[in-house]
Amino acid sequence: MCGIRKTVFIHEQHVPVALEWDTSDVNCLHVLATDLAKRPIGTARLLQDGYIGRMAVLKEWRRMGVGKSLLQRLLIEAKKQQMRKVIIHAQSHAVGFYIGFGFQIVGKEFIDANILHIKMTLQL
Ligand SMILES: CC(C)(COP(=O)(O)OP(=O)(O)OC[C@H]1O[C@@H](n2cnc3c(N)ncnc32)[C@H](O)[C@@H]1OP(=O)(O)O)[C@@H](O)C(=O)NCCC(=O)NCCS
Repeated sequence: MCGIRKTVFIHEQHVPVALEWDTSDVNCLHVLATDLAKRPIGTARLLQDGYIGRMAVLKEWRRMGVGKSLLQRLLIEAKKQQMRKVIIHAQSHAVGFYIGFGFQIVGKEFIDANILHIKMTLQL
């Protein structure tokens, strides 16, 4: 999980190290996708307040359904925990990915870690 986030967010997207790791990592639910050799290729997390985040798939594995599997798994968990909605601060380039799941845009774009984001929610 840490290796993927380091590769994708810190190296590829230049997110400052200090912003990548936070205390939420300790008590949230992490999901990890692996290849057939059990090497990690994607990760995401669900916070107890319904925020989904840190969705990351290694570049060479994108557009193959890995992100979809990760998000589907988190939505199942959110429903199990009887959450009524989930929220994401989506990177603007990935809005279409979340719209495919029925997420709706809330509010206006903002910048976080030098990257354009927008809040999106999905009622469960
Ligand atoms: C965003 C990300 C997690 C998507 O993962 P992925 O494994 O490539 O996504 P999938 O292959 O499962 O795609 C699922 C669907 O979303 C679509 N999709 C994927 N990325 C998309 C994008 N950036 N914009 C619009 N649609 C997208 C796919 O075409 C696919 O559609 P389909 O079901 O109709 O075929 C991945 O691109 C990534 O890790 N990016 C870098 C990190 C990042 O920006 N994370 C997002 C933080 S909010």
